[in-house]
Amino acid sequence: YMGDLLKYVLKGSGKRIRPTLVFLSAQLGPAKKESVRNLAMAVELIHLATLIHDDVIDKASLRRGVKTVVELEGADAAILLGDFIYSFAFKKLASLKDLSIVDLLAQTTHSMCEGEINQLNRRFYFDMTEEEYFTIIRKKTASLFGTSARAGGVLAGQPTPILDALENFGLNLGMAFQIQDDLLDLTAQEAEIGKTLRTDILNGKMTLPLIVYRQKNQTSRSYPAFISSLKNPNGNLGQLINEIIESGSVTQAKKVKESYIEKALKDLEKLPLGPVKDHCGNLATILCQS
Ligand code: IPE
Ligand code: IPE
Ligand code: MG
Ligand code: MG
Ligand code: MG
Repeated sequence: YMGDLLKYVLKGSGKRIRPTLVFLSAQLGPAKKESVRNLAMAVELIHLATLIHDDVIDKASLRRGVKTVVELEGADAAILLGDFIYSFAFKKLASLKDLSIVDLLAQTTHSMCEGEINQLNRRFYFDMTEEEYFTIIRKKTASLFGTSARAGGVLAGQPTPILDALENFGLNLGMAFQIQDDLLDLTAQEAEIGKTLRTDILNGKMTLPLIVYRQKNQTSRSYPAFISSLKNPNGNLGQLINEIIESGSVTQAKKVKESYIEKALKDLEKLPLGPVKDHCGNLATILCQS
């Protein structure tokens, strides 16, 4: 039974950004090919497990263009499948026989859980600050980007200053990536993205464009109406989203995203000249366009 579900989720693939970070940073020095492959596989599987669980929490029915596991088989199967994949990823990691990498990933997955827990705990908390939002996305998303880049560098035997630069690059890229994802959740079309959208606003999750909008309008007369539509977004979701876009809040959130890309590019300056640096730079500019 799990075998069929496993085949189902492994059939489609996503963008594979995290393993790409592993492969790129592992190119900086001599690394065992098999170890790099196992690490790359492990980070993608950890990511896949979090997506399967995330779709339960977010009540999403579409992922990577197909039905989610929770939609097809229910939450019980989705929880078990996520755990099964997650444990398999740690088996792969243990096979590397490098305690520092197991340690990195153990800390990171712990931090990802904390991020999701904080986000759950803050549902329908409309006063969330930017700082709190940044902490949540750093933990739930950026941490795995940072660790993927760092761990690849560890396999390539890189010195600490380079590992730190790689990790910071991944972290800042991950921040930009989640901000972009949150903007798309609000404004994009499901047919284009291939996953259920509007889940944040429907589940009471404050994301950057909403926080920016609140900051702009906190003292305006329309503020109570804004809060009551957030409390009960079903009726006038389209109108609410239009208002947020027209207020310039989406544009402003995009600027914050771009500032994280700038930071990521700055981190790359510490890497030696060469193809890894170039490809990382391209990845950062391409990934969060639009
Ligand atoms: C989706 O990640 C979850 C977020 C962190 C926003 P990706 O957009 O990397 O998902 P796939 O792997 O490409 O489907
Ligand atoms: C997911 O954030 C972050 C994870 C680490 C799972 P989202 O809930 O925004 O991801 P999507 O939009 O469903 O892919
Ligand atoms: Mg989520
Ligand atoms: Mg989600
Ligand atoms: Mg999202």
